[in-house]
Amino acid sequence: MTLWLVKSYGVSMNIAVFVSGNGSNLQAIIDAASRKNIKAKIAVVVSDNREAYALERARKAAVDTFVLDPKGFASREDYDKEVIKELERRDVGLIVLAGFMRLVSDSFVRKYKNKIMNIHPSILPSFKGTHGIKDAFEYGVKRTGVTVHFVDEKLDHGPIILQESVSVDENDTLEKLEEKIHKLEHKLYPEAIRLFTEGKIRIDGRKVRIQV
Ligand code: GAR
Repeated sequence: MTLWLVKSYGVSMNIAVFVSGNGSNLQAIIDAASRKNIKAKIAVVVSDNREAYALERARKAAVDTFVLDPKGFASREDYDKEVIKELERRDVGLIVLAGFMRLVSDSFVRKYKNKIMNIHPSILPSFKGTHGIKDAFEYGVKRTGVTVHFVDEKLDHGPIILQESVSVDENDTLEKLEEKIHKLEHKLYPEAIRLFTEGKIRIDGRKVRIQV
């Protein structure tokens, strides 16, 4: 069965961006929203790390932040329950994981089924996990890339929305490859958000169909 994920056009949707670190993807999303390239309001930036530079970027752009330290929570579910309260309060329709280095609970995934996106710096299903760029580089692949996908209960596994590759050239260092990957990420993530918030994404099992 094919499901349209967002039916209405032209409505500005509230999105939440989840971050743990540098936040260069967050910056790309902030920039796209301010250029009106995406019909979405970044309602809140959520972080599990109060030291994340991403929070500084949010503040500079006058975007609200919600920081919740996982210490002090007995389980992932308990942590996510607090996060959900914040998302409900802000009527969030799409959750964007942008370098959020924490697994979300199964109940969180079920609550926001097909409404959570993640970006991963490899061509999934290759090189899952926290070191996608380095793992691909050390493996010696000739091409690697970026995947934007919906989040399901398994790590780096849900239906793929957008995926593009870059070449790994003879003279590329790990740093050079990281640069290429990040540049591609900053193009693909705002594009995936745009498609979602404009109601151009349908999902059919594992297949994501995009209306052009
Ligand atoms: C990005 O490269 C993203 O793909 C990666 O973390 C980086 C965050 O950078 N995510 C993962 O590896 C998830 N498995 P940023 O904080 O500058 O956006």
